[in-house]
Amino acid sequence: MGRPSMTATSTDRLVAEALAEARSTRPVDPDTSAGPARQSWAGEPTDLAAEGGALDLGHLLATSLKAGPVDRTAEPVDPGDGVSTRLRPAASAGGLHPVNAHLLVGPGCSVPPGRYAYDPLEHRAFRRGPAPANAPRGMVAVLTVTVQRTASHYGHRAWPLLLLDTGHAVAALAMAAIAHGHHARLTLNVNAARLAAAAGLPGPDRWNATWAGTTAEHSLAAVHITVRTPADQPGHLTPCPLTTWAAEPLATRPATGPAPSPAGHRAGAVLIALSRTTAPAIWWPAESSFSGEKSSLAQAIANRRSAPPPLHGQPDPGALAAVLSAAINAGPYGPAWCAAVGMPPGLVTADPSEPKALRPIASGEARPTLAVWAARQGWLSQAGAVLLAEGVPDSASAEQIRVEHLAAGYAAACAELTATALGLRTRPIGSWQAADLGASLGGPAGQRWVIHGLALASPFRPSPPSHSRSDRR
Ligand SMILES: Cc1cc2nc3c(=O)[nH]c(=O)nc-3n(C[C@H](O)[C@H](O)[C@H](O)COP(=O)(O)O)c2cc1C
Repeated sequence: MGRPSMTATSTDRLVAEALAEARSTRPVDPDTSAGPARQSWAGEPTDLAAEGGALDLGHLLATSLKAGPVDRTAEPVDPGDGVSTRLRPAASAGGLHPVNAHLLVGPGCSVPPGRYAYDPLEHRAFRRGPAPANAPRGMVAVLTVTVQRTASHYGHRAWPLLLLDTGHAVAALAMAAIAHGHHARLTLNVNAARLAAAAGLPGPDRWNATWAGTTAEHSLAAVHITVRTPADQPGHLTPCPLTTWAAEPLATRPATGPAPSPAGHRAGAVLIALSRTTAPAIWWPAESSFSGEKSSLAQAIANRRSAPPPLHGQPDPGALAAVLSAAINAGPYGPAWCAAVGMPPGLVTADPSEPKALRPIASGEARPTLAVWAARQGWLSQAGAVLLAEGVPDSASAEQIRVEHLAAGYAAACAELTATALGLRTRPIGSWQAADLGASLGGPAGQRWVIHGLALASPFRPSPPSHSRSDRR
């Protein structure tokens, strides 16, 4: 009787301390090595360019998770291990891209059924094991993180960023699926042990004991992508697609890899503590705010980049309301979203009933305070608008902490695509310190913390070319 409650108490204490630490103004320790930019898996890679099957995985992964060349128009990304490439199409704190994808491929795909690990740098899938005879159709992607990637730079602030980054990667997959005309549903609350079992990985507490000398991955979310059928209609109950996969034995192990730094080790322990959900998995259908316009969604996915600061120029009210609505309506978990603007100075939000209009919720200039809260990123005080996700009260359960951060990353990524389609510039903002929005608006302390942000600016207009002497004549 005594032992389980002791475990619960130490888990609660770890989570409470980690939350207070991540929100504190304590500086981060000096950088440590980020380690390899991907996990290495043995075996023959499967041909992702293969034709056949209604669900073309090669194409889907190329637009959602595949690394690409760094383009000239955006700032360079330094992934930290000498790889001169943009490691994924989705945004990621520090460009560190800690998210990995395990593909559970059932019938109807361009790749034979089985368990695969995706290599985003080479755009290859390594077969790690067979599929069960009754595997659900389509592909389930189990998303995991390699904590050291992000902990190397963000130390005690890494674990919320790992969750936010995973939310962005979930959205990248789900929105790419919709752009390809497919159906995507996702879960952000499944117990990590069940996710790991489905992916053929050791349970969260058992990685090092099972595969000593390899780099642990922490399972956080899953996306199930299928070709659209009438069974996808709302209200149709489909069984959890992880069940059959989780009954299979472990699949192959990765090559040897580095252990995390002490900060990475602690971030991993926090993620384990946050992912011991006992509630049933909740799956919900991904929807895009691009109703019926698959090609504009595909174009927004291709065009999305984080614009380099400064991000001057307040978006017009209709555009700002559309981006806020995209964030608010992205999924059933919230969190609540508002935006800080300068003209007139204050906070605004959008209402689901009137998605094209802005509703003021507070007056007064908030952006300089936001700049201080966001680890002193001074340029935010002049940003065109700063979208803010608020939630995770001090009393939040482990499940709420995990799910609200994942959902905030997911919603920010959906909002980025809407903003990109409208020609706005965007930049996610992930590190928030002492950012008690509720208290600063005169409410009770510890109830409404900023957990994610998205800076917006009106479209970039290059300054007119300066006239040469001959032009002036
Ligand atoms: C969760 C998260 C937090 C981020 N936080 C910041 C931030 O605080 N400041 C900043 O300038 N950029 C931030 N970024 C943007 C990343 O630096 C950017 O996504 C990364 O360099 C990759 O570039 P890309 O988005 O153009 O692909 C964040 C991105 C994410 C997903």
